[in-house]
Amino acid sequence: MSRSAHPAGPRHADVLPEGHYTAPATDLNELDAKVWSRTVTRDADGALTVGGIEVARLAEEFGTPAYFLDEADFRSRCRAWADAFGPDADVFYAGKAFLSRAVVRWLEEEGLNLDVCSGGELTTALAAGMPAERIAFHGNNKTVAEIERAVEAGVGRIVLDSFQEIARVSHIAQALGTRQRVQIRVTVGVEAHTHEFIATAHEDQKFGIALADGQAAEAVRRALTLDGLELIGIHSHIGSQIFDMAGFEVSARRVVQLLAEIRDEHGIELPEIDLGGGLGIAYTSEDDPREPHEIAKALGDIVTRECEAAGLATPRISVEPGRAIVGPTAFTLYEVGTIKPLEGLRTYVSVDGGMSDNIRTALYDAEYSVALVSRSSDAAPMLVRVVGKHCESGDIVVKDAFLPSDLAPGDLIAVPATGAYCRSMASNYNHALRPPVVAVRDGEARVIVRRETEEDLLRLDVG
Ligand code: LLP
Repeated sequence: MSRSAHPAGPRHADVLPEGHYTAPATDLNELDAKVWSRTVTRDADGALTVGGIEVARLAEEFGTPAYFLDEADFRSRCRAWADAFGPDADVFYAGKAFLSRAVVRWLEEEGLNLDVCSGGELTTALAAGMPAERIAFHGNNKTVAEIERAVEAGVGRIVLDSFQEIARVSHIAQALGTRQRVQIRVTVGVEAHTHEFIATAHEDQKFGIALADGQAAEAVRRALTLDGLELIGIHSHIGSQIFDMAGFEVSARRVVQLLAEIRDEHGIELPEIDLGGGLGIAYTSEDDPREPHEIAKALGDIVTRECEAAGLATPRISVEPGRAIVGPTAFTLYEVGTIKPLEGLRTYVSVDGGMSDNIRTALYDAEYSVALVSRSSDAAPMLVRVVGKHCESGDIVVKDAFLPSDLAPGDLIAVPATGAYCRSMASNYNHALRPPVVAVRDGEARVIVRRETEEDLLRLDVG
């Protein structure tokens, strides 16, 4: 169903655009387990609780807006991924989705590895005690200083993204008197069915080295001949928020073909392939994500089949889920500030955050759900657009949704599935103070990333 604005723009719409939501299918008090973290429930009074704590208490103690992260859910998703892939594969959590020292410790304890893509993420990972050999370092333009730091720290792998970088890492590793384990990131030419900005395996974009025109084969030649590098495998990441396994299938097939060509040309079988991340999650009840064990089986089967056909030993597989682990584990809690009914259109509900804590709606047209969580309500549903407090009409958090028509200023509403790419992409636009991340578990809540303060703003502004 299209939920886009009226073709002539919302101000020209005197009727709701065709295909627009007309009525909610379910009771607005119901919480769809697909989009809420696992310990979320409504208590006897109708208020939402997470980890056994009621949202009103959380709001009072930590303020709004704030992200509440369900630690038990996060850990159980880590375990589900690790168990699904088993001891012969490696799961790297993609830190770009959300990273903090507490999260690094949970990952370490749950046996996951970590993918970082900047010096800042590397610093956070190392500061929290993630063993360097369990860290993979990504990025299409790592600085020399970042590469030096990663090599010195002894990261388990650097994923090489360009010809210059192959030479750069070789040079740095030699200068530091070591041999760095590396993978080469290839673009396999798959058009992932996702938003253009988060698709990464078609050829016309900045990541990786194309399989086409023998580019990747040439990169492998260089990585095998230059000193200071130990080429351990090939990497492919096709994009994000993907539900269809077909893209992964094509990608795995093409990567295995490259392994076979490498065997034929150089007489070696590279021991690893990394198929990246990108598995979709449910943002609304209409999304149907796959479980980790289905994904592991699908990927394992494809790689095994392709390797058998090519006469190769099956390499060790690794994957890099970010969103699929942290995305569903958090919600953003907002307080309703103003409510503006626009006759014949919809009601604008303004909250105390906005595009500074969730840029995904503005950037990717992302869809989210929303619920009234400080109480239940039997009032009739009204069509709403949840907007922020920024000076920008595109400052939309949830484009189209239903909330009870007795909604009032001071009510708490929550947007689920905001664990990934919300706090990590948060900004200070309009000098907004970035919200805290509060981990909730077994009746206890603790801040793992504190709220920004006005002193923080002034500290950066040196005057
Ligand atoms: N591995 C690599 C090499 C990646 O570039 C990414 C995401 C991942 C793994 C993890 O992807 P995930 O499983 O989280 O989808 N800001 C966008 C997503 C950009 C993702 C960039 N790379 C969003 O909010 O949807």
